[in-house]
Amino acid sequence: MPLTAELARTTPDDVAAVAVGAVADRLEGGDLDWGFLTANGFEAKPGDVRTLPGADGRTTFVVGLGKGAEVDPTVLRQAAGALARAARHQPSLAVDLLGHLADKGSAPRGAQAIVEGLVLGGYEYHAFKSDPKPKKLAHVVVVGGGGQRVQAAIDRGLAVSEAVCWVRDLVNEPGGSLTPTKLAQQAVAVGERAGFDVTVWDEKEIRKQNLGGLLGVNRGSAQKPRFLQLRYEPENPRATVALVGKGITFDSGGLSLKPADAMIGMKGDMGGAGAVLGAFRAIAALGAKVRVLGFLPITDNMTGGDATRVGDVLTMRNGKTVEVLNTDAEGRLILADGLSLATEAAPDAIVDLATLTGACMVALGERTAGLMGNHRGWLEQVRTASEAVGESTWPLPLPAHLRAKLDSDIADLKNITSTRWGGASAAGLFLQEFVGDGIPWVHVDLAGPADSSEVDGEIVKGGTGFGVRTLVELLTTFAKPKRADA
Ligand code: BES
Ligand code: MN
Ligand code: ZN
Repeated sequence: MPLTAELARTTPDDVAAVAVGAVADRLEGGDLDWGFLTANGFEAKPGDVRTLPGADGRTTFVVGLGKGAEVDPTVLRQAAGALARAARHQPSLAVDLLGHLADKGSAPRGAQAIVEGLVLGGYEYHAFKSDPKPKKLAHVVVVGGGGQRVQAAIDRGLAVSEAVCWVRDLVNEPGGSLTPTKLAQQAVAVGERAGFDVTVWDEKEIRKQNLGGLLGVNRGSAQKPRFLQLRYEPENPRATVALVGKGITFDSGGLSLKPADAMIGMKGDMGGAGAVLGAFRAIAALGAKVRVLGFLPITDNMTGGDATRVGDVLTMRNGKTVEVLNTDAEGRLILADGLSLATEAAPDAIVDLATLTGACMVALGERTAGLMGNHRGWLEQVRTASEAVGESTWPLPLPAHLRAKLDSDIADLKNITSTRWGGASAAGLFLQEFVGDGIPWVHVDLAGPADSSEVDGEIVKGGTGFGVRTLVELLTTFAKPKRADA
């Protein structure tokens, strides 16, 4: 059951529980038992939630928010995430946190963040539990003023988090269950409900369209590949943005087989395609003034008897030939065809998202996505959007000197360099070969943040749905990048 949420000026009497905020620099005030709280080590750290049973049978949650001057929507989202887990057995909850925002003007964003935190922090994946114990929290009252503007933000928060939870479901579903065919069916079903178009190419059409990268990766699989084209079309669109997402439903590495430990989690290698699907679902609900096109190559990467051999040469959609020297560098092969098709649509800008390299995780850690691109202004827009919604990103370079290391002796390109240094950038440089000159393009490597090994705030173990919030922010605040700016 999806959560419902509404705004109220004051805390209603009929809720099962209430949540109030506490800031670290003022552990006093209100009618809270501060003696009890501080004696138990409460310092109001962000995400530290304590439970106080009320005399009237109504539970009070005290939610740590950190330093008062630093309380912003990102802090509220994180705190609400922890609150959702503490309050999972309460049928209804009033959340009185907006008054703590350092910038009172950010109440709409704060309210949206609270709702996102509550839904995302309370997310659970039950599909394969024989005896699921679902949470009870069904209704939330956000306490605060602001009327219709803030209620609209609450509704945005619900729409965005519903989309993020769907992506988490897709990432968490095992690779043997979520086959390319099934992923395509899910996209079609959601597209019909949410209001965006989905065109599905089957293997025959993929062959006709010369998607040599996708076919090369699919060659070792018993599962058929799919290629999805998505379209969101508002009235009088201001511009066109193309999104490309890596949709590997399971990455064994192919004949360049991964070691056992490295294969764990590879059911989530479609997190990029998932983020694109989630963004379409959210903007179809919220509206955006730009046309959005999606290009999603989907296959698993397996080791079947006719799998692509190391040293095979593939001819890609745009005619370039690629010598495959490592079948585990498969993401760039399928994305290449996606980027070629995106380029052919002549959009004003392109973003691709992919769980592309372990090297990006070595560089930036598990929680930060790497950003690469050919256009400073467009990269800055993506970074600003991610910052605004509390998704961590950081730029990485595409150094020209690394590009020569992708030259092949027998084909136009090879899919790996002979060095392991700069692996994220080498993958970015490979992708750039398939992006049309002059089209602003950003590549998001989300190998780290698409999945989480820990619980923190709005993040729980497993798929995170990373990228959906950034894309929604980017598309709803879109400004056309200037072509000349490089
Ligand atoms: N899907 C992986 C990247 C990945 C690693 C995602 C860890 C999430 C967590 C990708 O297809 C891959 O195997 N990349 C190789 C590239 C290498 C062979 C050049 C890698 O990073 O080791
Ligand atoms: Mn791989
Ligand atoms: Zn992969």
